[in-house]
Amino acid sequence: MREQRIGVAVIGAGMAGAAHAAAWRAATTVRSPFPRPVKLAAIADLAEPLARDVAGRYGYERVETDWRALLEAEDVDVVSVVVANRLHREIVEALVAAGKHVLCEKPLADTLDDARAMAETARRAEDAGQVVRIGFTFRRAPGLAALRELVTSGALGEVVHLHGRYLADYGCDPQIPMTWRYRGGPGSGALADVGSHLLYTAEFLAGPMRSVAGAQFRTVIPERRLPVGSTVGRGKAEVSEETEPVTNDDWAGFTAQFDVAAGTFEASRVSPGHPNGLRLEISCRDGAAVWDQERPAEIQVHTRDIGGNRQADNGFRTVTLGPGHPYVGEGFAMAAPGIGFGQNDGFVFQARAFLEEVAGLAAEDSWPRNASFEDGVHNMELIEAIAASAAAGGSEVRVP
Ligand SMILES: NC(=O)c1ccc[n+]([C@@H]2O[C@H](COP(=O)([O-])OP(=O)(O)OC[C@H]3O[C@@H](n4cnc5c(N)ncnc54)[C@H](O)[C@@H]3O)[C@@H](O)[C@H]2O)c1
Repeated sequence: MREQRIGVAVIGAGMAGAAHAAAWRAATTVRSPFPRPVKLAAIADLAEPLARDVAGRYGYERVETDWRALLEAEDVDVVSVVVANRLHREIVEALVAAGKHVLCEKPLADTLDDARAMAETARRAEDAGQVVRIGFTFRRAPGLAALRELVTSGALGEVVHLHGRYLADYGCDPQIPMTWRYRGGPGSGALADVGSHLLYTAEFLAGPMRSVAGAQFRTVIPERRLPVGSTVGRGKAEVSEETEPVTNDDWAGFTAQFDVAAGTFEASRVSPGHPNGLRLEISCRDGAAVWDQERPAEIQVHTRDIGGNRQADNGFRTVTLGPGHPYVGEGFAMAAPGIGFGQNDGFVFQARAFLEEVAGLAAEDSWPRNASFEDGVHNMELIEAIAASAAAGGSEVRVP
C-alpha cells in the first residue's frame, strides 16, 4: 500500500526543471500547513551531473538517467514533465498509464495532434482520480492575478482592448547554439516558447480569443551552429563549425478579437535588453492597468474617476503589491508590503495548488486549480490559428 506521503519527482533538470524541483520543496511552506508529508524522491535527466546538481541543491533523494525508472517507483506519486516539447506526449502517457499524477510544462506538445491525444489521456485519467495538469505558471503571478481581480470585480469596467508582448533576448546572439527551440514549423519558435504564455495570460484577463488576424513571423538569424555537447536552457554552449537552419520564428506579431475586447500582441526571442519582458496592458471603459514581469511586485493602475482630484493630474499610479493582493499574504515567509518577489514564486504557488488537488482538498479551500490539458490544447489551437493567418498573408482565422 502507498504510504500517506506524497512522493514527487521531476523529469528534466534544465532551466525550468530546476524551478519545478525548487517549487515542490517550497510548496508545503506556503499557506497553512499542508495535510500530508511530501517526499522529494527523484530527479531524472539524461545528463547525470545536472540531475545530481539539482537533486543536491533541493534535497531530492536520488537521480535517474532514464525517466522510465519512475514508472514502477512505489515512492513516486507526482511527476513534473519539464523536457523539450516533442518529448511531452510519450512521457506523460507512460506516467499516466503507471497511475502517476502529472504536471506537464507548456506548450502541451509540439503538434496539435499529440496535444489532443494527451488531452484524451488526461480526461480518462481524471475520471480515474488522477490529477493531470499543465503549468501555466504566469497565472500565479500576483500582479497578473491582481489585474484579473480588477477586471472580474468590475472596478475598471469592461475590457476594451489589450496590448501584450513577451520580448525576450535569448536568441539575439548568433553564437547561441542550435537547440530544440529553433527546430519546427512556423509558430513553434518564439510564439510557442514565450508567446504561449502571452496567449493564456491574455485570455486570463479578457476571456477566450475568438479569431486572430494580421499574423506575421520573422526569422532573424537563419542558421545556428550545432553544440559540441548537450545544452541546458537558452544560454551559450561550446559550438562546432557545423550549422543547421533555424526553421521557426524568432519574432511573431498578430491581432486578436475576443468576445468584446480586441488586442495586439508580439512575441520575440531577439529583443535586445529584454531578458524576460512579459507585459500586459488592459484598457477598459473606466480605467486601465499594466503588469510587467520586469517589475513583478507592482502594477500600474489608472482610473478615469478619481473623485475630487483634477482630471489633468489623473495618470497611472504605481501600486506596490502586498498582503491584500492574490498569493502575497499566504505565499511568503515575510508577508509584508513591498517585500518583492518574482517568477520562481509562481512555480511554488503552482506546485502548492497541484498538491492540494492531489491531497483531495476542496476547490474552495485551495488556491485556484492548475489549468487542464484541454486548456493546453486550446493554447496550441491559438498558435495554429496564428500560423494559419501568417500563411494566408494575415487573413482573419477563427479559433475552433
Ligand atoms: N513555465 C515557464 O516559465 C517555463 C520556462 C522555461 C521552459 N519552460 C518549458 O519547460 C520545458 C523544458 O524547457 P527548459 O528550458 O527547461 O529546457 P532545457 O533544454 O533547459 O532542459 C531540458 C532538460 O531535459 C533533459 N532531457 C532531454 N531528453 C531527456 C530524456 N529523454 N529524459 C530525461 N531528461 C531529458 C536535458 O538533458 C535537459 O537537461 C519546455 O516545455 C519549455 O517550454 C517553461
